[in-house]
Amino acid sequence: MEKPVNHILVIFGASGDLTSRKLIPALFSLKVQDLLPEKFSVLGCGRTVINDQQFRDRMKESIVEFSEERNPDGKLIEEFTECISYLSFNSEQVSGYGKLRDFLQGMTNSQGISPNYIFYMATPPSMYSVIAGNLHEAGLSVQNAGFRRLIIEKPFGYDLESGRELNRKLHDIVDESQIYRIDHYLGKETVQNLLVTRFSNGIFEPLWNRNYIHRVEITSAESIGVEDRGGYYDSSGALRDMVQNHMLQMVGLTAMEPPSSLESNSIRNEVLKVLQSLQPVRESDVPRQVIRGQYTGSTIKGECVNGYRYEKGVARDSRTETYVAVKFYINNWRWGGVPFYIRTGKRLPTRVTEVVIHFKKTPHHLFQRDSIAQTSNQLVIRIQPDEGILLKFDMKEPGAGFNVKNVNMEFHYRDLADIRLPSAYERLLYDVMMGDSTLFSRDDEVETAWKFVEPIQKAWARNNDIKIYGYPAGTWGPSVADELVEGCGLTWRYPCKNLAGDGDYCEL
Ligand code: BG6
Repeated sequence: MEKPVNHILVIFGASGDLTSRKLIPALFSLKVQDLLPEKFSVLGCGRTVINDQQFRDRMKESIVEFSEERNPDGKLIEEFTECISYLSFNSEQVSGYGKLRDFLQGMTNSQGISPNYIFYMATPPSMYSVIAGNLHEAGLSVQNAGFRRLIIEKPFGYDLESGRELNRKLHDIVDESQIYRIDHYLGKETVQNLLVTRFSNGIFEPLWNRNYIHRVEITSAESIGVEDRGGYYDSSGALRDMVQNHMLQMVGLTAMEPPSSLESNSIRNEVLKVLQSLQPVRESDVPRQVIRGQYTGSTIKGECVNGYRYEKGVARDSRTETYVAVKFYINNWRWGGVPFYIRTGKRLPTRVTEVVIHFKKTPHHLFQRDSIAQTSNQLVIRIQPDEGILLKFDMKEPGAGFNVKNVNMEFHYRDLADIRLPSAYERLLYDVMMGDSTLFSRDDEVETAWKFVEPIQKAWARNNDIKIYGYPAGTWGPSVADELVEGCGLTWRYPCKNLAGDGDYCEL
């Protein structure tokens, strides 16, 4: 792997959780793999008044606590944190940016680091355009002697209009090619492997269409509740928090046409085409095609768990959904008539994300089978945990007659010797450093995804009669979601923590 060119990474909001839990540990992992530039520096910026050493000490602690490296080497941590500095100023006010510019200039001169800057906004989204504007005023956004890259995190707006507004504001300041919008699902090894599974295996691609696939199901379940993010979550909900971004990106990668090359825009153009082909859910169809739910209090493993409305920061009469399931179609040649089902929720029985391809049944039942529901082949692409791939198929039960048994063929990443799955941030930070935007959401993808969810948002906002179903924490969401799945006896796959442990679902 190539090393990125020398640069300085500036993190706004450096005293927050994202920096200590994800960014610094991910940078440390790059250090362990010798993937940081020869000359590299991290500058944390925030309002908190601390000095370089105090900030370094905090970052050392966070590496020890959150690094995914087994037994991180103390000496290496020491060496890595040497490249970290801290600057205290109020990033809302342009007056502080002269100090930042001088600091960067000073580092460039004294340490010989090229004037390439990456600005990571680990701040509330309302600050993105403010910081970008201030960087511009201070002459820090223009690429002349070196590159200037901006990293922002979701949410990219609140709805279609605010999503467009954010893009407009950023485009007034920097070019789209300078913006890296993080969708951390795209940083997951197993999400990227969707591309390889589909386009490097001659056996799957010929079957990957309406002629052989009956339906596609994507689940992203979490067993945790909203934890200490009640305030944010209550104004967001599962549709904005997970569907508009992570889930639709997974739909894009599952359904896209083969790109003509691995060039960033070539891949993103194909994902965009899928998003543009999503059949909009009409407002009047929302009650039938979209099920929303909210968890209620229950007892899990003998422990009382609060209902959503009793979480900190959540309104007692909140109508925010903590679960959503959507059925939709993709209007194109490959997928015409194939239903796609996606669902996500908090306080479900287990944490699992997977894509399930349900193939069509054989046209004629020759053999005796235990149950009709078991007769179709499934390809389960497990994104997390127990990352891997499972193919379910029928075989002859040994013995007299022709009894059929459904069995599994499995691949688990854990069986690959000495391979650690890199964290999403590790991959994404490295890609920004390399100037590769393939795994980042482009402006038009974000807007098109908002377009798809907009009628659902509008229907819920306008029509209070659309039900929000309660579901006890620790269960698979509202049971009416089962009725979304078209076809007699068909329902969702109810997965376990372990890839092949289906049937009786939970490890709680
Ligand atoms: C985030 C959401 O984007 O993704 C969270 O804001 C959610 O609510 C998280 O918990 C899930 O990510 P992962 O990687 O744990 O599946």
